Amino acid sequence: MVDIHSHVIWGVDDGARSRDESIAMLRLAAETGTTDIVATPHCDAQYKFDPVVRDERIRELAEATGGVPRIHAACDFRLNFDNIQLALQEPARFTINGRRYLMVEFDDMLIPPSSEEIFRRFMAREICPVITHPERNPILQSSFERLESWTQAGCLLQVTAQSLTDRFGKSAQESAWALLRKGLVHVIASDAHDTEDRPPRLDLAREILTREMGAEAAELLLVTNPAAIVAGEPVWGSASTPVEPRKKNRFAFWR
Ligand SMILES: [Fe+2]
Repeated sequence: MVDIHSHVIWGVDDGARSRDESIAMLRLAAETGTTDIVATPHCDAQYKFDPVVRDERIRELAEATGGVPRIHAACDFRLNFDNIQLALQEPARFTINGRRYLMVEFDDMLIPPSSEEIFRRFMAREICPVITHPERNPILQSSFERLESWTQAGCLLQVTAQSLTDRFGKSAQESAWALLRKGLVHVIASDAHDTEDRPPRLDLAREILTREMGAEAAELLLVTNPAAIVAGEPVWGSASTPVEPRKKNRFAFWR
């Protein structure tokens, strides 16, 4: 499986606190079936994002773990004014593996009214937003129409694996399943912060998804789509509406 969201780099945010914890997280990910994990340190007002430190630590961790799982570089991008300007100037600094997909996190209290315009500008710069865990956002978890219009405009939605159970509360859980059944979810990721409370595990999500939606849907959300995102390629549809990769209509840059 391919996990596109994790705080596995130590000492840069509220994720891993030591190099040893990072290594333990990576081992757990590998043991539970993750072949590829994307390191997404927070990039917001609280945590300064430094891609140089991130890349150094990725190299060190890859050496310590023998390259299993493979570690990819990105960030957990908060949609604020400064970040938006910087991303438009230098997208590869923030996107997954410097390619097209950008993990975008919203503030819990405020969804900018100009979000649609910001996404339009991102797409004009060949940046495709992957909205992280809308099911956990008190505003977005009930704004299905808005989420639907974003996905129609070409954004992708990532739900957190632990939201499939009640780790983030009943409303996040209900929202996650409603989004999945509506066919609005493109990818499930761990958003891991440690080895215990928020571990880098996708195996349990795979079990639950397989039971509830079938093995094909689980494969799409945990393997096929996240692998395409890491490779910077077009994704297939969402779980209940698998369709041809979006080569036309959605993104000018896929043509
Ligand atoms: Fe995160």
